[in-house]
Amino acid sequence: MNLPLSEILPMGASAGPDGHLRIGGCDAVELAAEHGTPLYVYDVGTVRSMCREFVGEFGARYPDSRVLYAAKAYLGTAMARLVAEEGLGMDVVSGGELAVARAVGMEPGDVFFHGNNKSTAEVREAMDYGIGRFVADSFHELELVEAEAARRGVVQPVMLRLSPGVDAHTHAKTTTGILDTKFGFPIETGDAERAVRMALEAEHLDLTGAHIHLGSPIFELEPYAVGIDAALTFLAPLCGEGLSLRDFSPGGGFAVGYTAERLPPPVSEYADVIARTVAGRCRGLGIAEPRLLIEPGRAIVARAGVALYSVGGIKDIPGLRRYVSVDGGMGDNIRPALYGARYEALLANRALDAADEAVRVVGKYCETGDILVEEAMLPSPRTGDLVALPVSGAYGMSMAGNYNLNPRPAVVMVEDGSATLVRRRETYADMMALEVDAL
Ligand code: LLP
Repeated sequence: MNLPLSEILPMGASAGPDGHLRIGGCDAVELAAEHGTPLYVYDVGTVRSMCREFVGEFGARYPDSRVLYAAKAYLGTAMARLVAEEGLGMDVVSGGELAVARAVGMEPGDVFFHGNNKSTAEVREAMDYGIGRFVADSFHELELVEAEAARRGVVQPVMLRLSPGVDAHTHAKTTTGILDTKFGFPIETGDAERAVRMALEAEHLDLTGAHIHLGSPIFELEPYAVGIDAALTFLAPLCGEGLSLRDFSPGGGFAVGYTAERLPPPVSEYADVIARTVAGRCRGLGIAEPRLLIEPGRAIVARAGVALYSVGGIKDIPGLRRYVSVDGGMGDNIRPALYGARYEALLANRALDAADEAVRVVGKYCETGDILVEEAMLPSPRTGDLVALPVSGAYGMSMAGNYNLNPRPAVVMVEDGSATLVRRRETYADMMALEVDAL
């Protein structure tokens, strides 16, 4: 039978004859009964397949390329092991993400430390670990890493994050390539050149290359070409002055289809533009081709994840709207409230029923803006139904919080018909454990 939304649900998702949504061969209704809701279900096969697509498509066009998983999209120990198994390195942005990489024994040389304000403690933790690269974001950070490397008597590889002055047409809160951003050394103001010189002169830094990240999600291909061109055009003359450009990264930001109406270009097209522009510009500028580092986060995990919620109260405002309240909301998915992000929904227990009613799916948080889906087409939802939100795998759980002291959801991974609980549901005791006067 035809499952609606199959192009945005995890790969191979289906509906059983009972109308239950099946993900990774597991019945979503049974998963919810066993683990409770809200529940995040990740399909391992979809994650693996996306990892392979990125490695394959970029590798075919630019052999000296490496895919780094941008851990901020979703990280736990199971996910870190999974991407490492698929041969990906990792982009981390905090001591916490670094600690997870370390806990699963990720090869330190494969870990790249991003972020605009690393603390002294984080720099030390990363160097204790033997981090592959710091991607330095400020003069302050260059000084910090130089001082720490000097103290240890080592030479630390670093890359520089450049701000190329390119608008990738994303939401204002997720654009990072323009001049007016906190991220990176702007080329336009001369800071990028000063940073290159400072890093080259620093005794304990080995400047291996540069990085840009324009924002996310980026549905267009052109900004990548423009950004790469701007960065390499800036870097080329410096290659004659002592810079050995061995690493180059155009960042991440590869879009995913949250709704069936707006699907992004396939990975192969991003790979085409990026590989062609890097190779072509290097040739044109007379510089050696660097290793290419790609940092997808969302595109690896978004589609793999489905959030399951139980319907509680339903409120009708005649002539206006029907509100369907679920047991999660902005605490586990802040994206609609923060960016106006749009999702689609289906009923996991009646996936094949005709979706003929427009309703607003809202969460349980004490905020009017706690809306998960402004207008979802569902088959007349009833209390006790199970709402599934496809494409919830990225930046839901990783941005989750304890607002209203709601415990954060559990996470299960499904593969070949078996489900593994990889993160248990938070308890009230977990939340109170940090209070120093705990009873
Ligand atoms: N590399 C760098 C340096 C980044 O800052 C980011 C995302 C990525 C890679 C991965 O981008 P992705 O491939 O996942 O799009 N919380 C927002 C997105 C903010 C992303 C921040 N940096 C959201 O929920 O849409």
